Amino acid sequence: MSLIPPSARALLMAALFCATSPLASAQTKSTSATTRPAAGAAANAQQALLANEAKIDQLLRQLTLEEKIAMIHANSAFAAGGIKRLGIPEVMTSDGPHGVRPEQGRDWKGVKDANDAGTYLPTGNTLASTWNPALGYAFGSVLGSEAAFRGKDIILGPGINIIRTPLNGRNFEYLSEDPYLISKMVVGYIKGVQDQGVSACVKHYAANNQEEHRNDVDVYMSERALRELYLPGFKAAVQEGGVHTLMGSYNKFRGTYATHNAYLMNQVLKGEWGFNGLVISDWGSVHDTQEALRNGTDLEMGTDLSLMYGSVDQTAGGGNSTASLYDRFFLANAALDAVKKDKSLEPLLDDKVRRILRVMYKTNMLDGAKRKAGAYNTPEHQATARKVAEEGIVLLKNEGNFLPLKKTTKTFAVIGANATRENAMGGGSSQVKAKYEITPLQGLQKALGSQAKITYAPGYTIARGQKADAQLIQQAVAAAKAADVAIIVGGSTHGYDYSKWSDNAYDAEGFDKPDMKMPFGQDELIQAVLKANPNTVVVLMGGGPIDVSAWAGQAKGIVEAWYPGMEGGTALARVLFGDVNPSGKLPMTFPVKLEDSPAHKLGEYPSTAGNPLKQTYKEDVFVGYRYFDTYKVAPQFAFGHGLSYTTFEYGKLTVKPGTQSATVTLSVRNTGKVAGAEVVQLYVHDEQASVKRPEKELKAFEKVFLKPGEAKTVTLTLGPDAFRYYDEAKKQWVLEPGKFSLLVGSSSRDIRQQGEVKL
Ligand code: BGC
Repeated sequence: MSLIPPSARALLMAALFCATSPLASAQTKSTSATTRPAAGAAANAQQALLANEAKIDQLLRQLTLEEKIAMIHANSAFAAGGIKRLGIPEVMTSDGPHGVRPEQGRDWKGVKDANDAGTYLPTGNTLASTWNPALGYAFGSVLGSEAAFRGKDIILGPGINIIRTPLNGRNFEYLSEDPYLISKMVVGYIKGVQDQGVSACVKHYAANNQEEHRNDVDVYMSERALRELYLPGFKAAVQEGGVHTLMGSYNKFRGTYATHNAYLMNQVLKGEWGFNGLVISDWGSVHDTQEALRNGTDLEMGTDLSLMYGSVDQTAGGGNSTASLYDRFFLANAALDAVKKDKSLEPLLDDKVRRILRVMYKTNMLDGAKRKAGAYNTPEHQATARKVAEEGIVLLKNEGNFLPLKKTTKTFAVIGANATRENAMGGGSSQVKAKYEITPLQGLQKALGSQAKITYAPGYTIARGQKADAQLIQQAVAAAKAADVAIIVGGSTHGYDYSKWSDNAYDAEGFDKPDMKMPFGQDELIQAVLKANPNTVVVLMGGGPIDVSAWAGQAKGIVEAWYPGMEGGTALARVLFGDVNPSGKLPMTFPVKLEDSPAHKLGEYPSTAGNPLKQTYKEDVFVGYRYFDTYKVAPQFAFGHGLSYTTFEYGKLTVKPGTQSATVTLSVRNTGKVAGAEVVQLYVHDEQASVKRPEKELKAFEKVFLKPGEAKTVTLTLGPDAFRYYDEAKKQWVLEPGKFSLLVGSSSRDIRQQGEVKL
């Protein structure tokens, strides 16, 4: 008989199963060598885990049934549990992915708190565009540190759903259309947060790829698409990132709500992947007590039932209309009744409480003295926000080296309502009250000082349905004509205000975009300005692809700036004037028009056969560039695309085959006059497969920083996963022997060198 209690034994197995090197995201030799945990440290970690399990066993013996139930549901908008008698604190959560949200108050009323304005980091797709996992870690560290300072235990991010349609209102929070890029960025982010003593919460698991009908849409997809595209980011978060908590999504998956979906939660997440952390519901995503008890939901979060369900349902949860709001949650009174009636449910309840306590021990919640204090609004945090923006801004087009602009230019016209708009409070739950936010216009003014004259014209009005405004266009044209250079800052927009979301939000939670067009009559504006002054650069802000086909051919310079955070204006000016050499690369394809994008081409968005409550992902594994490259559809801007002010030369590849692996080595040289960084991307193409596979798939990358004339050797390692596909009949990953082409390039459509390997 083992001396280790059964629960602890299960945990030990899970811990061993999940053990991977901390910064597994990094591709470089140096990082993998330095981060392999020493055997001694690993043994100590195992011992600490076992000691925690023993303490949890002890607490479980002391907790009454009622107290256990009190721990598994919210007691106010962002807090849960708390058993004073035993010194168990409440769990304090907060959004969100790119900053600590302003205080909402216990009853969701919002509070006036002068001290909740913090660091506003760039949004998820800006971070992903850096293709720099080390920045993922830096980003997470800022977030974790500010969350710790604000007394939060769990920060509700990162959001990593696959960008399937350009219309998803929440794409700005997410990272990419590619599961490999997501996996590499998410691991650093999570470790960054958790190294500050705060838990990350990866969300929204799973298949939450649209906002329209997010509460009731039922998603169907092949097992292969699920395994190859929609799950790998979550798997990496669990097995490589060691994420402490995960959020179940609102939507249904194959007929059952994702949050209490036995397949997703019990079989895949907790079973196959060995996740021993905490599953939190999205706010109001639980719909059934029995399913939640049995199918893996550990903690039901939510808020005012009238917000969640449209009206207060007196029969929801406990069905007791005299009970308090939170007692009527599905995992409150109703769960208590259920467990009292059916004792076989008690071990399931214990497991939920165990998972909550595990997270508490991992972050020293039961021993406040050991918690990190965190830091708030430090210059270092602001510098990280700026660095991510600088590396995330993408130079899409630069005809005749129009950019960088010269500071010696005498007059600039800055045009566009986005040039003066602050975005921190936009978008929904990821809103941040920023300590300050440098808008594009302010960034340009600061960069130029009194050196040049800047005139500003808004050019358009932000309001949904707003058509081109002739007067504003005329004003903008006059300003552009009178200036040496015009800088248009346009694109999409965030909503600020819950009551106005549907009016002006194009990148916001709860809504998808109506189309992919430039809103508010910007096509007319941009065409008129380009005609008035060809020396014009167009800067796009927004959470993803937008249709620029009406004028992209005429514009000399196009820059994608996303929502670049509190230092966004500074970063943008530094990129435009060449103080920073752009190195961002698109983490998603920009189609020419919406109909080119696979889900839309197949008529699968926003409904299946006219039923908006059903989504069948007919495009299967052909999402993003996997579709565009396989079916030879030319994109406006390709996945992985991003220009630089210098040029890079790719040397020939050396391929060293392993048993089920390969190592690719090449030299990359900066052949231009300024320092710069290149993201060297390695795509794999399966030459002969028994299933239809995408033309190419990203399987490794490395960002190299090079001085003018400097060359570096890049080593990219491909393990067995780089060659496998998911075999639905065998229900497993399969590596089919044969020849694989190895394509190395500067984007998915700019392959510079090629090699092959036979496995
Ligand atoms: C969102 C989550 C968020 C939660 C709490 C939900 O509506 O989907 O991403 O963390 O609210 O604000």
